[in-house]
Amino acid sequence: MTDKNNPRPRRLRFEIFRYNPEDPESKPHIETFEIDERPYMTLYMALSEIRETLDASLQFDFACRSAICGSCGMLVNGRPALGCRTLTADLPEEIRLHPLPAFKLIGDLSVDTGIWFREMAERTEAWIHEQLPFDPDAEEQRMSDDIAAAIYEGDRCIECGCCVASCGVANVNPEFLAGAGLNRIARFMMDPRDGRTDADWFEVVAGDQGVFGCVGMMACADVCPKELPLLDVYAYLRRRTLGTKIASG
Ligand code: SF4
Ligand code: FES
Repeated sequence: MTDKNNPRPRRLRFEIFRYNPEDPESKPHIETFEIDERPYMTLYMALSEIRETLDASLQFDFACRSAICGSCGMLVNGRPALGCRTLTADLPEEIRLHPLPAFKLIGDLSVDTGIWFREMAERTEAWIHEQLPFDPDAEEQRMSDDIAAAIYEGDRCIECGCCVASCGVANVNPEFLAGAGLNRIARFMMDPRDGRTDADWFEVVAGDQGVFGCVGMMACADVCPKELPLLDVYAYLRRRTLGTKIASG
């Protein structure tokens, strides 16, 4: 961390995982780069400077640079975080960067989270299952403010994958839905427009791939950059699922 009593700029030392799975000659290894820290420098700025001045082949992902698109997740000194909202001033002078585990590696720090999220969305059918046929003349259905706010809260997920990467279960069981998947399910379970019954949801949520596969380490809630209330989400899913089990005998 920056020493506030010593305003001299620090020399940052980056140890970065390098590997190109497309290149048969490439072997996973760590490369070290040094740059001067600048005021309000983020990891996005630091990596861009490394790529512009030291190694043009360095691969990493960024798009929005403002914690919205979810593309810049990486392990920062072993902890999943968004590169665009991590200030170097909050880190020590030595910074280790690795790609997020649990996702397909594209190269260096770049991973394909889209494969995981698409598979999860298809498996859980993460879309509204209409109860009635569409009628353009029907009156608009009303929703309470509380339910609308709860659904909006779940929709704040930016699919960065930090919760998945932090989860010990998701790292050994690719079927496990993890924080992002369970949050998505809860969002549709709460939605009064979705016609699926608790018994339908039981098939999706119960079992090792669902909320009962969680072993309660809750790293997901610690690392979520949007501070989604994942503990509340799991409690909600357990209540709904157990209610179904008891009701159906
Ligand atoms: Fe990222 Fe949080 Fe969504 Fe997980 S729940 S994908 S950590 S925003
Ligand atoms: Fe979009 Fe970081 S660049 S979330």
